Amino acid sequence: MRRQTFHNAALLAPILAVAFVSALGAEVPSSEPSRQLPPGPLGEAVELGRRLVNETSDHPLSAPFVGNDLNCTSCHLDDGEHPTAGSFLGVATAYPAWSPRENRVITLEDRVLNCFMRSENGIRPPNGSEVSVAISAYITWLSQGESIAMNPDQPLGPNAVEPVRLDPATADVDRGADLYETHCAACHREDGLGSDDGPPVWGDRSYNRGAGLSQNVKLASWLKVAMPLGEPILTEQEALDIAAYVNSQERPEFVLEEHLGTQKPHAAP
Ligand code: HEC
Ligand code: HEC
Repeated sequence: MRRQTFHNAALLAPILAVAFVSALGAEVPSSEPSRQLPPGPLGEAVELGRRLVNETSDHPLSAPFVGNDLNCTSCHLDDGEHPTAGSFLGVATAYPAWSPRENRVITLEDRVLNCFMRSENGIRPPNGSEVSVAISAYITWLSQGESIAMNPDQPLGPNAVEPVRLDPATADVDRGADLYETHCAACHREDGLGSDDGPPVWGDRSYNRGAGLSQNVKLASWLKVAMPLGEPILTEQEALDIAAYVNSQERPEFVLEEHLGTQKPHAAP
């Protein structure tokens, strides 16, 4: 409940949001999920998971499974705690969930490992590996105290990015190119290959064609709430035009067999 309030408040001016949330703070019942780390090795796993989602492409435990320059938090903003832009908040409550893409029920761990194969353009880490357990522990911790509500329709949690309601056929790549120049190139560079101010949005070091963001509607929906970083001001149409432009550029193909690692092929589509 508090999360919902936070979500709405975040749509208002930041100052209002702060006032709103702290005013509410006094009323939060003591049964509200606390964000205290569990003691002992479990807490250490959660902390390791938080580090790994931020340093995915560099950390020695995760880097061997990553094939680009992106970290989980390149898209799941603010440690995955952003209320709308790839939020991990509440996600663990939705699993196990039905996955139409895989035509089977998947666990949270499966979902994490899929993002390695697709968004990270890498190799699926083994189930039960340290990296997989730590990241799953961190994401589960962000749902601590919330009720389980397994998702029978799709592998998405309660704060998943809301899809834009436009016909993808209305996307205009040329308009998108101009808008990209105005709103994005300063951080991601005109050639899309990234800079110290923003990671690659196309090319060899970005997400591959199997990633969620490689679909124009999904990218547009995420851009709408996430970019330009810190001041997402795009209209739905602008976001869709830019998405079509970004996804019209070169990026790694996705061939499932090349991303499975040691996993048996039945585990993914
Ligand atoms: C290039 C952007 C990108 C990167 C990098 C990325 N993800 Fe994702 N992730 C997404 C998008 C987009 C979705 C939602 C996809 C959809 O709508 O089907 C998603 C979905 C998820 C979900 C399911 C969320 C839910 O609501 O159920 C989990 C869990 C997840 N990602 C974990 C990770 C982890 C862990 C990493 C790093 C190893 C990672 N992701 C890296 C873009 C990304
Ligand atoms: C002020 C700099 C800045 C601007 C302007 C900006 N971004 Fe980003 N963008 C970032 C950063 C930084 C990240 C990674 C988020 C993080 O690490 O917190 C990111 C992440 C991304 C990602 C996901 C990761 C990847 O590289 O694929 C995409 C896609 C993206 N931005 C597209 C855009 C688009 C399109 C625009 C213009 C509408 C834009 N950005 C404007 C800084 C910026």
